[in-house]
Order: sequence, then structure tokens, then C-alpha cells
Amino acid sequence: MPLTINFASDKLPEKGTLIITATDGGKLGALGKELDKKTGGAIGKAIKIKKFEGKPASMFALLAPAKTDLDRIVVLGVGDGGKLSALDAEKMGGTALGAVEKADGAVTFLLEPMGNENVADGEIAARAATGALLRDYKFETYKTKNKTKGGPSKFTIATKASAAAKKSFAELKAVAEGTILARDLVNEPSNILTPPEFAKRAKALTKLGVKVEVLSEAQMKKLGMGSLLGVGQGSVQPSQMVIMQWNGAPQAKGKSKKPVAFIGKGVCFDTGGISIKPSAGMEDMKGDMGGAAAVTGLMHALASRKAKVNAIGVLGLVENMPDGNAQRPGDIVTSMSGQTIEVLNTDAEGRLVLADALWYTQKRFKPQFMIDLATLTGAIMIALGQDYAGMFASDDKLAEQLDSIGKAEGEQVWRMPMNDNFDKMINTPNADMKNIGGRYAGSSTAAQFLKRFTNDVPWVHLDIAGTAMGSPKSSTSRTWASGYGVRLLDRLVKAHYE
Ligand code: BES
Ligand code: MN
Ligand code: ZN
Repeated sequence: MPLTINFASDKLPEKGTLIITATDGGKLGALGKELDKKTGGAIGKAIKIKKFEGKPASMFALLAPAKTDLDRIVVLGVGDGGKLSALDAEKMGGTALGAVEKADGAVTFLLEPMGNENVADGEIAARAATGALLRDYKFETYKTKNKTKGGPSKFTIATKASAAAKKSFAELKAVAEGTILARDLVNEPSNILTPPEFAKRAKALTKLGVKVEVLSEAQMKKLGMGSLLGVGQGSVQPSQMVIMQWNGAPQAKGKSKKPVAFIGKGVCFDTGGISIKPSAGMEDMKGDMGGAAAVTGLMHALASRKAKVNAIGVLGLVENMPDGNAQRPGDIVTSMSGQTIEVLNTDAEGRLVLADALWYTQKRFKPQFMIDLATLTGAIMIALGQDYAGMFASDDKLAEQLDSIGKAEGEQVWRMPMNDNFDKMINTPNADMKNIGGRYAGSSTAAQFLKRFTNDVPWVHLDIAGTAMGSPKSSTSRTWASGYGVRLLDRLVKAHYE
């Protein structure tokens, strides 16, 4: 059951679990002090005994505190409340929920005014709620035993600014739910989430007002998508392309409003094909559709918050398998763009899928820009680890916007180089290009490959191999799949394209 979160005025509750905050030096707010009095000074005494300094994410709990009907009081350190960023507030909310994971019944998180000049109290509360919602996410669909039991039935954030908090959370919740959808898709095993099943889940966005089309293999063949189809030909699962359209900005008279477009790599399982991967860790390749998941989560977020934008989401859905019909190293395929590709490694399949998806998107929709997301290269994980997606861009403005939003929202990008030299590395005598570079700069040569299919439309490629899956636990995520990208792109749209 997803957690129900609501907002109420800043009153001390009579029952259940109460979380209060303490700022630097272990300072309580006015209501915290009142509660301390009620308990005969037990909270203040505990702060002294523990030498509690109120550092961010530090905490202690008083169980069954005397002279109240409360089950427990948790004191949560938040550091300098006057300087919290929106992102800090979100982490605080996640940490708060984590502190009461085992508490049954109702939980109240009391947020007293923080005197913060940058982030309003209502926004702090809404961000905290977002953090709690993301922290609460679990992937337990397939557990029939030992599912998580208990935990808070209701999580109420008590704040003077409850009206403003409610308003702000309505929108943030849409974004968090998009992130959760992306997490679900990435966590789902590949025997369940095949290309047709993925397409079906994308189709479900119809109920939010998204127009969803699914192209069959026959239709893609007609369009000349030999690059994408070659990847899927060794699988019993049919390849599909999903096209989602959210038209939230009705066209103004006489004005052409070009849409923004997002394209996702959706390799539902990547064995490597005939260039097969080693077996150790191959199970992680169920997450090789993380780009497609992020695009789907993004479209969900945009539609459910009724974003005033025209946005396109395109997914290239395939399964990369080695069977008797699989493509071979050395095969030459013709992409929709007409350019031919010598497939020297069938494990460099993501770029083959994106080649046709990018070309199709620019040709059909003439977008203002295209951003693709893909778990594209192991090399990007070696270069950047798990804290940054690799960003490759043909457009500096878009790259700068993504950089600053990534920093503010905690989904960071790091710009990587592109140049003519890297581009030359994918030339081959046998065709227009080959699908691998050499040993060096593997993420950059992959990006150069994609660029050849953008037809000079302003474009950014985000290599999310390190950020989308195998994610380290944090205050707002306890799961393998982070849902990376949904928030970054939703906030990009919100800040610059609505
Ligand atoms: N899906 C992988 C990249 C990947 C690796 C994502 C690990 C997440 C975790 C991609 O299709 C791939 O196999 N890339 C190859 C490219 C190489 C053959 C040029 C790689 O990175 O080794
Ligand atoms: Mn691969
Ligand atoms: Zn792959």
C-alpha cells in the first residue's frame, strides 16, 4: 500500500508517533519546547545526555514518553534550518520516514517555521512529503512471503503553511509518481516486461490524456528501420516502437509551437546477442530499458500535472537475444535515415535502436530539441560512477539548463566531450559507419554515433548506465532502480519550456 501523506495545521498530536526537528546546537522550536515541558523536560534532558547537536539526519527516539499518550517522540536533526535547500528538505522528509519505518499507526511530522529566506515553509513541507513518498517505495510485487509489514498508516506533516504545502505537493507528487513508475518498470524482470508488455504499460497513459501509438515490426519494416529491427531479430519477442504525445499547450493561432521530444532506449533484456555477455551480473541487464522507463515516467508526470507543453516521448523496445535468427558480427544493416551500419559487436545494440528512434522522431515531429536517455555504455560508469549521468550535447544552451537543474534537483549530469576525431573512429571501409569505436573513449564514440542520426536538431544524449540502476541506497531511495531522469526532465520542461 502506498503511503498516504497529508498536511495539517501545526498542532501537537495526542497520539501515535511524533517527529519533531532540532536545529544546530540541538535547538527545539516553540512547539518542541512546549512538548518538552509536557514531558517534564525529558526531551531537553535527552538532548543533553546524548550531546545531541541537531546535525542533519542525526536523531534519537523517546519511547512511550511519560505524561503524554504518544507512542514515541523522534527528535530529528536538520542542521541550519535557515539554510536548507529544497533538496535538503526532501532528504529530511525521506530520513523522517525512515526513522519511523517500524512505527505502526499514525505519524505526525511537525515542521515548525524555519526562518528560511530561500525556501518558503510551505515548499519545505511539500518537499519533505515528496522525500517521504520516494523513500516509502518498495518493489515487492513478487514476494509472497516476508513482505514488509506494519509501518505508518498515515503520515501527516503538521505545518503553519499547510495550504501552501498542499498546493505545491499536488505538482511534486505527480513528478514523484512518474519517478515511481520508472522505478517499477526498471525493477520488473524481463520475463514479465517484454517489449509488448512495456508497450501495454505505456498505453495505460491514455487515461491521463496522452495519445499513445504502437508500431509493429511490419510497420517499422515499412519505414525502413533496419537498424532497430536487426537488434530484435534474435528474440521471440516482437520489437515495438511506442510514440506518446502530450499536447498540453494548444497551438496559438498562426504560431507554430514545435514540441519537445524525449527518446528512450528500451532494451528489455540485453544478453549482448551473439557477442554474448559474461554470465556474472547479466541479470542487471533487465534494467537496460531504463531510458525508456524514464521517458514513460516523464510523460506520466507531465500529463498528470497537466504541463503546458507539447511533448513527445518515443521508446525503442527490443530484446537483444542470441538465437538462430540473431544478427551476426559483420552484418550490415540499413537504418531509416538511409545510412548503413556495419554491426561489429552485437552488444553495442542500444545505439542501433536509438539510431532509428532519433531519426523517426526528428522526421515526423520536427521538434525544438531531442533528449535521449539510454543505459548505453559500461564506460560511462567507469568514468563517472553512479552520481552523474554522462551528458553529450550538440546544443550548449540545453546542456547548461540541464546542468543547473540537475544540481538543484539531485539528478546530476556531467558534460562529456564530442569532437570530429571521435566521430572518425566509427568510420569503416565496409559501410557508412560501424557500431563500435575502439578501446578508447567508448561513451564518446557511442554519442558520436547517435549524433549522426539527429539531422542537426538540437540534441542531448544522457548516458544513464550508472545512474538508473544498481543505485546506492539514499535517504529518498531504497531500491535498485532510482527512476533517474524523470525529475530532471520534468523540471527542465517546467523551468524553460512551458
Ligand atoms: N547495456 C549495455 C551497457 C551497460 C553496461 C548498461 C552495464 C548498464 C550496465 C550496452 O548495451 C553495452 O553492452 N555496451 C557495451 C558497448 C561495447 C560493446 C562497445 C559496453 O559498454 O561494454
Ligand atoms: Mn549491449
Ligand atoms: Zn544494452
